[in-house]
Amino acid sequence: MSQLVFLDGRIVEVDAANVSVLDRANLFGDGLYEVIRCYSGSLFELGTHVERLLAGAAALGVTHDWTQESLESGARRLQAETGIVEGEMYIQLSRGPAVRTHYFPDSQFPTVFITLSPVRPIPADARTAGTSVITCPDMRHGWCHLKTVNLLSNCLAKEKAHRHGVWEGLMLRGLDTMALPGSVEEYCDAPGELAAVSPGDEFAGWVTEGASANVFVVKDGRIATPPKQNILPGVTRRIALELANEAGYEVKERRVSAKELLVADEVFLTSTVGEIMPVVNVDGHSVGEGEPGPITGKLAHMYTERVASCAASVQLRG
Ligand SMILES: Cc1ncc(COP(=O)(O)O)c(C=O)c1O
Repeated sequence: MSQLVFLDGRIVEVDAANVSVLDRANLFGDGLYEVIRCYSGSLFELGTHVERLLAGAAALGVTHDWTQESLESGARRLQAETGIVEGEMYIQLSRGPAVRTHYFPDSQFPTVFITLSPVRPIPADARTAGTSVITCPDMRHGWCHLKTVNLLSNCLAKEKAHRHGVWEGLMLRGLDTMALPGSVEEYCDAPGELAAVSPGDEFAGWVTEGASANVFVVKDGRIATPPKQNILPGVTRRIALELANEAGYEVKERRVSAKELLVADEVFLTSTVGEIMPVVNVDGHSVGEGEPGPITGKLAHMYTERVASCAASVQLRG
């Protein structure tokens, strides 16, 4: 297909416009975009669109050398070289390629590309006769039960955890979200939501899961983990539930209030890479005695045995 693309400062054929598979836009949706209408060869409100793109990049902590002028000039160069006069321009700026970790890489090599395509026709009478719509639930950042690559919120939670020197960001729902932080700095600099909460305080909110792990709490020998709605039902979570049942513990899949984290005897995370991971501190509050608890230890041991027996049976079959 012959189409010119602006990629990182150069104008090339689309087939030669190679972007790494490790680009964080591809892995996590960790990027921003703009769409600009080209009328009679002129890019309408180009300055405003580029301004919004750069403001978004600043808020997300994407570090780059692009300026308002250099991006606008790249967009105009592409329009001139393609010769498209009635078109839709797409500009994407991502945090660029890096080894896959949810938190931000130490060095960022952002990717910028711009495309310009002929404008898509809109039905002739849509603007004169009006159009119809259908209502839908707003599920942006929803559908957590599917392991999609729509992971920007998870990256932010992990980046916050990373900056606070802790392993995981536990995600809470049901908080008052009227004053969401406007930048990654504000988001990451804030203490954990439970930092200033005492067990007796009023505190709405429940825990769903970690940025890349499921969460369990243990109280008086009983185990609970958030239900499958609004979480990714992890493979390791399922095995942990099986093992807990096998060991004879009482286990419930139920909504877990955020405050339960403060009064739990034990908290642990489950994930393919982290396996069964004890949590000894949440937002500065010690969990239980502040060390890995016996039920977590027992399940972690059973998990290791399960892994070893699977590996052994594969070797036998091989
Ligand atoms: C959001 C989220 N929850 C839970 C998990 C744990 O899933 P699993 O045990 O299948 O690795 C992951 C793993 O990547 C995850 O991304």
